[in-house]
Amino acid sequence: MDYSNERIAAVAKTLKERLEGLADKAEILKAVELRALYSEIPTLPAAERASFGKGINMLKAELEQLVAQHQEQAEALPPIDVTAPFDGNVPADKHPGLLNAMNGSKHPLMTELDSVLDIFYRMGFTAVESRQLDDDYHMFGALNFPEGHPARDDYDTFMTEETDANGKQLIAPAHTSTMQNRVLQALKPQLEQGKPIAAVIPGRVFRNEDLDARHEHTFYQLEGVYVDKGVHAGHLMATLKTFLQEYYQKELEIKTQPFYFPFTEPSFEFALSCPFCEKKGCNICGYSGWIELLGCGMIHPNVLTMAGIDPEVYTGFAWGGGIERLVMMKYDIEDVRHFESGKLDFLRQFNA
Ligand code: DAH
Repeated sequence: MDYSNERIAAVAKTLKERLEGLADKAEILKAVELRALYSEIPTLPAAERASFGKGINMLKAELEQLVAQHQEQAEALPPIDVTAPFDGNVPADKHPGLLNAMNGSKHPLMTELDSVLDIFYRMGFTAVESRQLDDDYHMFGALNFPEGHPARDDYDTFMTEETDANGKQLIAPAHTSTMQNRVLQALKPQLEQGKPIAAVIPGRVFRNEDLDARHEHTFYQLEGVYVDKGVHAGHLMATLKTFLQEYYQKELEIKTQPFYFPFTEPSFEFALSCPFCEKKGCNICGYSGWIELLGCGMIHPNVLTMAGIDPEVYTGFAWGGGIERLVMMKYDIEDVRHFESGKLDFLRQFNA
């Protein structure tokens, strides 16, 4: 702003510079220089008073605007809730609630994963964790995605610049299906002893997603594989339904619709009746009464063959889906990004 009066212009410059250094910006409005300008008015020749007074008012208005701007900025960027649990000078009864262990506590997702795994252990499954860096073969090749197959593009994978022995970039797995080939091979001897392969595979997966309340770049999936003689899709549905009823402690209905995955044939999209509204429709199920939960199907013969299992003798089912979804529904958590946010306020709710 231009001030035609030199003295006002000089005070404006001084005060604006001082404002930068003030912790409490509103202090500037009480500056002695500003008061001095006002007290000068009566000493001026009558003809100058009006324009001098106007100049000071302009300066005051400009300063008020600057103070308001700073306050808006400060409110828009609240200080981050630092992990330091408390300020030593704060009296003990004013400390924020601490997590129940001084060294941290279990993440709610891991607590839930334990209870998910426990249900599957009781159903006779073993668990194997997936890797956080894998290769092109396990991400795609062993799952019947031929080289150049368009379905590869459905997964927005993160890749390393480094390459593996085959000259392929390494991949941060976009699903836990990367483990199917390894698990099938490792547990194949069981089949020969007449015992089914029954494994669940929890793990962290990564996708280059546009982030929103339902999409996160880093999340967890649970994969399941089951192979034996005479296994059919009815076993798949019964297994998933039993698990979900146990997890939500409720009678539920399930439904499927046809889908496409290269590693299953047939493939399904699997939905359960909303555990909250008994299919009446609520905000959790988007007023449809149903929740689409995961992908599943009968393991493709090529996938079994690549793991050394004869698809003429054995059949199996598999599924894979996000763990956050299950937990979000159980606790009515509205935004998937809370899980990886490291926000203590969120975590404390699960560690009362
Ligand atoms: N991997 C799939 C995904 O992340 C999910 C999936 C679908 C896994 C079908 C399976 C399956 O094992 O059989 O989109």
